[in-house]
Amino acid sequence: MIDKEQLNSNIPQHVAIIMDGNGRWAKKKGLFRAIGHENGTKAVRQAVESCADIGVKNLTLYAFSTENWNRPKLEVETLMKLLVSSLKKEIKTLQDNNIKLNAIGNLETLPEKARTELLEVIHKTKENSHMTLTLALSYGSREELTKTIQEISIKVKNGVISPHLINETVINEHLYTNDLPDVDLLIRTSGEQRISNFLLWQIAYAELYFTEVLWPDFKKEDLYEAIYNYQKRERRFGKTSEQLS
Ligand code: IPE
Ligand code: IPE
Ligand code: MG
Repeated sequence: MIDKEQLNSNIPQHVAIIMDGNGRWAKKKGLFRAIGHENGTKAVRQAVESCADIGVKNLTLYAFSTENWNRPKLEVETLMKLLVSSLKKEIKTLQDNNIKLNAIGNLETLPEKARTELLEVIHKTKENSHMTLTLALSYGSREELTKTIQEISIKVKNGVISPHLINETVINEHLYTNDLPDVDLLIRTSGEQRISNFLLWQIAYAELYFTEVLWPDFKKEDLYEAIYNYQKRERRFGKTSEQLS
């Protein structure tokens, strides 16, 4: 078990987490999936607090994907209700830890109540500066890239930008994540080793970390372990090892 004292000063600037395994956690215990999601929110608090504690500047959590709309209606409703109650409950955690809330995704598709509550917490925490917590809600990377291409095309058509000036910076500026740095460390729980339409562009050079731990069981120590593992890696960005030293 890794303690935070074992970490060095090379803290990833941006950690993103695919919080997976709530359903299997519940099933293993003979409980309803909803109870798994409820317990997942406790793991969210632990992850948020430990990231803030060790100095991660940006934490992005995959909370609901565009594909998750295809789940049974009742489960979708449960998740949306849980979002509203968590926002109401956790605003204090955000304020106490000087954390700014942010959201990415097609937020217009969220139920009115969830969107209103979300925008309110974003507004109330907008001056906080210790860490930015981004919730990916109704988020899908392909939807984001499609939207980006549409927006840039309209600008080209209206003569606002000329095609040969489209570069990576311009594309970045049109993504939901325009004010976030690239992901340094991507964590996925529950043993699945896939990306599931999350931040495809933004993880181009992220370190990937997969753990068998189911999301509701993910504790502070699990987060420290992921970062400890990250710190042992050499990020070469295409260069040779010799060039780096
Ligand atoms: C992650 O847990 C939560 C969401 C995707 C909203 P799952 O609900 O996907 O749990 P499993 O994968 O079925 O165990
Ligand atoms: C990814 O988990 C989405 C979230 C964690 C919100 P899923 O459980 O939906 O992913 P797949 O379907 O197993 O790839
Ligand atoms: Mg899942």
